[in-house]
Amino acid sequence: MEASVAFYARGAFLPTTSSKHSSALVSPPSSISPSFSSKILKSSSLFGESLRTVPKSSLKGSKLKSSNTSTTRCEIGDSLEEFLTKSTSDRGLIRVMLCMGEALRTISFKVKTASCGGTACVNSFGDEQLAVDVLADKLLFEALEYSHFCKYACSEEVPELQDKGGPVEGGFSVAFDPLDGSSIVDTNFTVGTIFGVWPGDKLTGVTGRDQVAAAMGIFGPRTTYVLALKDAPGTHEFLLLDEGKWQHVKDTTEIGEGKMFSPGNLRATTDNPNYAKLIDYYIKEKYTLRYTGGMVPDVNQIIVKEKGIFTNVASPSAKAKLRLLFEVAPLGFLIEKAGGYSSDGTQSVLDKVIDNLDDRTQVAYGSKNEIIRFEETLYGSSRLKAGVPVGAAA
Ligand code: F6P
Ligand code: MG
Repeated sequence: MEASVAFYARGAFLPTTSSKHSSALVSPPSSISPSFSSKILKSSSLFGESLRTVPKSSLKGSKLKSSNTSTTRCEIGDSLEEFLTKSTSDRGLIRVMLCMGEALRTISFKVKTASCGGTACVNSFGDEQLAVDVLADKLLFEALEYSHFCKYACSEEVPELQDKGGPVEGGFSVAFDPLDGSSIVDTNFTVGTIFGVWPGDKLTGVTGRDQVAAAMGIFGPRTTYVLALKDAPGTHEFLLLDEGKWQHVKDTTEIGEGKMFSPGNLRATTDNPNYAKLIDYYIKEKYTLRYTGGMVPDVNQIIVKEKGIFTNVASPSAKAKLRLLFEVAPLGFLIEKAGGYSSDGTQSVLDKVIDNLDDRTQVAYGSKNEIIRFEETLYGSSRLKAGVPVGAAA
């Protein structure tokens, strides 16, 4: 079992190619890397072949049509590769998203099998023992290099640009948080990878709105890859099946109203009275509390349940800690493509210029009315609504 995963992790499955900047989509990663999935998980299936792939007919139909062509239609039940091919004609972007999908699949397995003790969760990586977040970091850098379309890659772990050799023209720069919530792996809470894809070679002096794609890998009871592309409507969920394939299982295009809240950095309520007022409002209005302390599952639930609000608000004594480039902007892209809204208190997080790789910000994600309430309660007015304050601001 370990051997095949370590084989991937060392990059041994990655063919050495001289055509680093080739625009041709060489063998898709899903076919290159059977990885641990088909060989190992097949034999461990309790239910046999029939349950490994969910037939398209058993899944609800997609609400969406691909934006780039009227003849191809993205369907629930599509494989990741089918979906991407129907959604964009950018072969470089397809390549990046497929390679990241490969890395997420391996990270998922590594998270599930990490041994946790003391302060770290550790996994074997060839002959080395690596903390699972360090291993995730390494796998993602390798996947981006292998894509041949990544110019710069940058990780929250070491926020410095790494040249991955891809072209500037037609290529991308990718920022990622390799394993958000790595400190809750031992508790068996859901954790995840977050990444954003920008065109060319710039990760500063750009905004979240410049992203061409963003995604998160979610490692919980189910492993999912939730992604959005600039040129395709909606935010899309892919489920990792027993045989190791990603299958399109849900699209989200609207975030409606619903009383579910996910309040981060609550210590800020001690010296931010407006944040305290907002939290009081949720409690008095009998909102349901759904908060794990992992930003990936806490934000993902808004996309999956199609309702709710996530907040992480700062105060003089509890400063903003969430990173704009690695976490906030990619998740903002996913939420807004899903039909939701984001805010730093006064503007969409997608409109914030990323001046430095390590910029931090406060943030809220949610439905339109929740973001109006958030902005009005914190700062007295909302750009989304002129007129009467709602809820806690009233
Ligand atoms: O990345 C930082 C992080 O772990 C997020 O995943 C999470 O939303 C946040 O910190 C939790 O912060 P707090 O414990 O202050 O609510
Ligand atoms: Mg993080």
